[in-house]
Amino acid sequence: MSYKDELSDLSRDGERSLTQQLVDVIAAAIERGELAPDEQLPPTRELAELADVNHLTAVRAYRRLRELGLVTAHVGRGTFVRGAGAGHAPARVTDSIAWQRYALPASVERYGDRVLGEMHRQATTEGLVPLSVGYPSERLFPVAEIGAAVAATLSEQGGRALQYSDVQGTPELAAEVARLSASRGAPEDPDDILITSGAAQALSLACHAILRPGDVAACEDPSFTSVIRAMSDSGAEVVAVPVDEDGLDVDALESLLSRREIKILALQPRLQNPTGRDLSPERRGRLIDLARRHGFFILEDGIYGDLRFAGEDPRSLRSEAPAHVVYVDSLSKTVSGGLRIGWVAASGPVLDRIVAAKRTHDIHSPTLTQLAMARYLASGAYPAQAERARTFYRERLEAMAGSIERHLGAAASYVEPLGGGHLWVALDLDADERELADEAVRQGVAYIPGNAMRVEARPELNMRLSFGYLEPDQIDEGLRRLAAAIRALRKRPARRQAVPV
Ligand SMILES: Cc1ncc(COP(=O)(O)O)c(C=O)c1O
Repeated sequence: MSYKDELSDLSRDGERSLTQQLVDVIAAAIERGELAPDEQLPPTRELAELADVNHLTAVRAYRRLRELGLVTAHVGRGTFVRGAGAGHAPARVTDSIAWQRYALPASVERYGDRVLGEMHRQATTEGLVPLSVGYPSERLFPVAEIGAAVAATLSEQGGRALQYSDVQGTPELAAEVARLSASRGAPEDPDDILITSGAAQALSLACHAILRPGDVAACEDPSFTSVIRAMSDSGAEVVAVPVDEDGLDVDALESLLSRREIKILALQPRLQNPTGRDLSPERRGRLIDLARRHGFFILEDGIYGDLRFAGEDPRSLRSEAPAHVVYVDSLSKTVSGGLRIGWVAASGPVLDRIVAAKRTHDIHSPTLTQLAMARYLASGAYPAQAERARTFYRERLEAMAGSIERHLGAAASYVEPLGGGHLWVALDLDADERELADEAVRQGVAYIPGNAMRVEARPELNMRLSFGYLEPDQIDEGLRRLAAAIRALRKRPARRQAVPV
């Protein structure tokens, strides 16, 4: 069987990613000499067609082969099997990495993981408008204040700022986080706070501490991809609970609880990513009541809480049920994503377990950044910074709404977000989700396809468009390109596929 035949026969059972299979087929063809040194490989678009994968998968496979030293790319000419005289390290070719697949535990890469990986790359891809990127704009960061806080910390604290410190975090930062929580109507004891490397680590440590293989974990759907991953990495079966404009569907949760015993429920009750909506007051009460009656943990993510444009700010669920709620948050969306300052607030044995997991993972978060951030918060600069962030994001949401109206018109609909950094858009288009995302990248715009944020694949065509990273004119250009991608798809015969999540 030639390597091209093998390419048209990839397995779709999710055991190995399509990218890895492409890499393996081509690497094997090179090893057995079917593909000779200096031979040109098919262009990525042809490779995608041969293997019936999307274009990005083909691009990723060639990138991986380059990293392995098996092929070289020449701009404008294509990709070639590395020549014998090309100065490559033959040891890398002969010392095959294939054995690792048998030694490593099975890993199933979810659609959302791949899309998230792409998103980080798209932030810096020349010529692409990354409506996919959920970072705040760098223009928002308080560079001078953070610079001053770091300098003052180093000069006043000296070696302590560079020394190991307590696993739970420096007392200064825990006290400031407690003060911030109190200002939001949710007072915390600093002893109940663990400083983490962003909210992402907080979510992951909580799942690691609470879940064991075979447990059932419920998650609002759609949701932040990494929390779905964190729950499944702990070996849990992740079950979807739908979200609508009033937040998590508590009737659906109640029905799930009548059939299954769940250990944890993950949700963002305020300004949810991707919908930007809140859990309604009536549903909040019922949810807390269910957690108490059925004995499960609520993993509450409040990361967008300070980016509210409309509606009353409901207090955190944790302020009402501290024994049941593990709360995670960070300063990533308002002050800096790169400083990785996040935290967990939890009470009782669950906190001890999360602290133990933190110790194993990275001993503690960096002392210098914790002390500098504590100084920044103590200076009283945060409320004005949060206000700047709100204005910044709101202006961009308005720009995006105008651009959607202008370029997509009736093809797109969404429920007005109350805050946050994203729009969850439904498209009235009969098309394959991956084909549309691919065409969009070809037209120079990227977004997060709806099923990348889902626990369970759904046939509706949704997309997450993020507005906090770009300027209004870039947002407008992105929407113009998206409209062109939609027009191109409308001209093709519909080819809907079930998207594996
Ligand atoms: C809902 C949600 N939770 C957690 C995170 C991770 O935040 P951090 O950058 O603080 O780790 C994100 C990041 O986008 C998010 O959207």
